[in-house]
Amino acid sequence: MNEISPRRRGGARTVAEQASSRLQRRSFLKGAVAAGAAAYPLTRGTARAVGPTVDEASAESFPFYGIHQAGIDRPPPRLAQSTASFASFDVTVANRRELTDVFRTLTERARFLTSGGTPPKAAAPGGAPQDDRLLGGTVVPGGLTLTVAVGESLFDDRYGLAGRKPVQLETMQPFEHDNLNQAECHGDLLLQLCASHRDVLVHAFLDVMAHTDGALRPRWRADAFNNPPRPSGTPRDMLGFKDGIANPDTGNAQQMNQQVWVQPGGREPSWTMGGTYQAVRIVRFFVEEWNKVPVGRQERIIGRRKVSGAPMYGTDESQDPVYNNDPQGKITPLDSHIRLANPQTPETVATSKILRRSYQYDRTSDAAGDVNIGHVFCCFQQELNTYIAMQTRLEGEPLVTYISPTGGGYFFVLPGVRNSQDYYARGLLA
Ligand code: HEM
Repeated sequence: MNEISPRRRGGARTVAEQASSRLQRRSFLKGAVAAGAAAYPLTRGTARAVGPTVDEASAESFPFYGIHQAGIDRPPPRLAQSTASFASFDVTVANRRELTDVFRTLTERARFLTSGGTPPKAAAPGGAPQDDRLLGGTVVPGGLTLTVAVGESLFDDRYGLAGRKPVQLETMQPFEHDNLNQAECHGDLLLQLCASHRDVLVHAFLDVMAHTDGALRPRWRADAFNNPPRPSGTPRDMLGFKDGIANPDTGNAQQMNQQVWVQPGGREPSWTMGGTYQAVRIVRFFVEEWNKVPVGRQERIIGRRKVSGAPMYGTDESQDPVYNNDPQGKITPLDSHIRLANPQTPETVATSKILRRSYQYDRTSDAAGDVNIGHVFCCFQQELNTYIAMQTRLEGEPLVTYISPTGGGYFFVLPGVRNSQDYYARGLLA
């Protein structure tokens, strides 16, 4: 439903239209490099002042270079940025050389947009502007992260990449209770954009669209936000529960290497090292029905207390749920969401750890006038099979009555861009 359509108003040419040939798309790459040169020097994750009128969130920047991409791990106690878009594309270019151009362009734009700086002037007097000035004369980093992932369809016969596919990457198949709208599923490439302010995100999205100039055809886009903590701790989802409590410690490299990042020495192609599998599921919540369910029953469906987020026997969200004194599920029901997701049994220990980073949505009501509220479930894991096993266990949970998965897909997040010579997917395309 959030499909993007080209806008044409009164003959005025958009920035994208002004750059409308493949040739110009390549020349834009040069512009991007120039823009990169004019950018602020990169800072390593610290907020810095761009000017006295710029708020702290606008000045915040995340390091662009690294073994891993940004937008996945955010060391606690910082919360994920407040706004996000999951934008899926089909790639339209004709061959591998042009595909390489696309990834180089994406790299240059992401480097500039996430660090901020002064966009270059029009190439010629009276020529097409190189920036829409949505953010004024200086592009603020605005806590922007741009995370690039690829879908199984990119590995078909178009670009000769079939032999390089991450071994577990597959096209999402419907689970038992799914109600998938194919127009909101899959894609060759997924851009996850997160930022502190919506204008920063929209500016980045439009910039990428303009500079890739038709090479990326929008397939679907899910816009979402992160609620502020109410009143503190982990933010709530639209069912009113604190969501995202039990997660790997993103500040703990050992845990992240075990559970999230692909490591050398396994069955995966070597180019995938430092990447991760991403599962995205657009899930509608039937909030009006949910809100008629007594809170005690809601808590038994989820397996935690609603207001505090504590385990069923606890008082605080920081307490870990444990089940060894509750084999029959008298305290935390065996079919509760958290107990099926992570049953804490020897048989499920290998398929119970994922990094969740979901965002909420509130869309226009549907044709029947029913509210359309839910979340964009997003998780990262070293093995896609972990997610699939977990979701399969959840097929029988009582929560399925109150939710309806409608879209999303499986993707592989590319390794990070390591330095100024590197670019997204270099290892894949080499
Ligand atoms: C679709 C709607 C969903 C809702 C409303 C939801 C909500 C919640 C809530 C409220 C919690 C408890 C607090 C926390 O630990 O974060 C939780 C935990 C969890 N959820 Fe979900 N979730 C959903 C989907 C999923 C899916 C699709 C998966 C994976 C396939 C998943 C995996 C988990 C895991 C692993 C935990 C932590 C379990 C533990 O170790 O205690 N959730 N979820």
